[in-house]
Amino acid sequence: MRILVIGAGSIGGEIIRECERLDTVEEFYILDHHPNAVERISRGMKKARPIKDFDRAVPGVDLVIEAASQEAVQRYGKRALENGADLMLMSVGALVDHDFREELFGTARSNGGRIYIPTGALCGLDAVLSASLVHVEEVTLETRKPPESLMDSVFVKEGKMDLAGLKTEKVIFQGPASQAVKLFPKNVNVAAALSLAGVGFERTKVRVICDPSCRSNVHTILLSGESGELKGVSINVPFPDNPRTSYLAALSAVSALRNICGHVWYGV
Ligand SMILES: NC(=O)c1ccc[n+]([C@@H]2O[C@H](COP(=O)([O-])OP(=O)(O)OC[C@H]3O[C@@H](n4cnc5c(N)ncnc54)[C@H](O)[C@@H]3O)[C@@H](O)[C@H]2O)c1
Repeated sequence: MRILVIGAGSIGGEIIRECERLDTVEEFYILDHHPNAVERISRGMKKARPIKDFDRAVPGVDLVIEAASQEAVQRYGKRALENGADLMLMSVGALVDHDFREELFGTARSNGGRIYIPTGALCGLDAVLSASLVHVEEVTLETRKPPESLMDSVFVKEGKMDLAGLKTEKVIFQGPASQAVKLFPKNVNVAAALSLAGVGFERTKVRVICDPSCRSNVHTILLSGESGELKGVSINVPFPDNPRTSYLAALSAVSALRNICGHVWYGV
């Protein structure tokens, strides 16, 4: 199997190390804006091939893994599928745009390609998928974060609330996922993945809690419907040098890659 990884940052780094370890991966290409990042991560690896030109490398690639940015999904996603590769996406927030999403999904359909969306920083996305096959009453994503993690949100920048002086936890936003992804773009990946797996951006509710005593990024999924009730909580350790990204999100990409390369799938 040949793989092309876009992004050699926190998540990409874990994926690249796994590509080097996996016997089923013959060789893999790495593309990043910053050649230094690629050089640092791939030094000494036998199967890694740093590249600068996506279009030259992509013919003959079986799987393109995006672990870079929403912009990278827009720039390379369709081209990967048109070249016959499957596509794994981490910057799921790019799929919030309805027209872009339909175009990408349509390209996968017409080229016989697959788009893989790992569970990321959430837990319980598998159960949400199953429960959504029958009637769903309500789906809520509750995100609890310390004030520092919310400071650069559009919500705070527009001056809707001063979080710095907060002494106790406070619900700072309640509304549909469609509105939450605009006000809290850093939360966009989890809200997008949940909305797409479940009942869509309008019916998925988001509650954001700012909690000064919280040291992790905590995501709780609550679902009620015909199949019963679900509650999935992930209390996520952030990457030390990149607190925006949860370690679990990177591990979910590695686990998805193992599934794609393997013969037995758990939790399908
Ligand atoms: N699905 C989830 O649950 C989840 C969780 C955390 C992060 N993410 C998303 O995954 C992506 C990667 O996260 P990360 O923490 O590894 O980021 P990071 O900042 O550590 O690394 C991203 C790397 O991608 C490179 N890059 C960005 N755009 C590029 C482009 N167009 N072409 C080439 N290289 C490009 C950057 O130079 C950087 O080295 C982000 O978009 C992030 O929002 C998803």
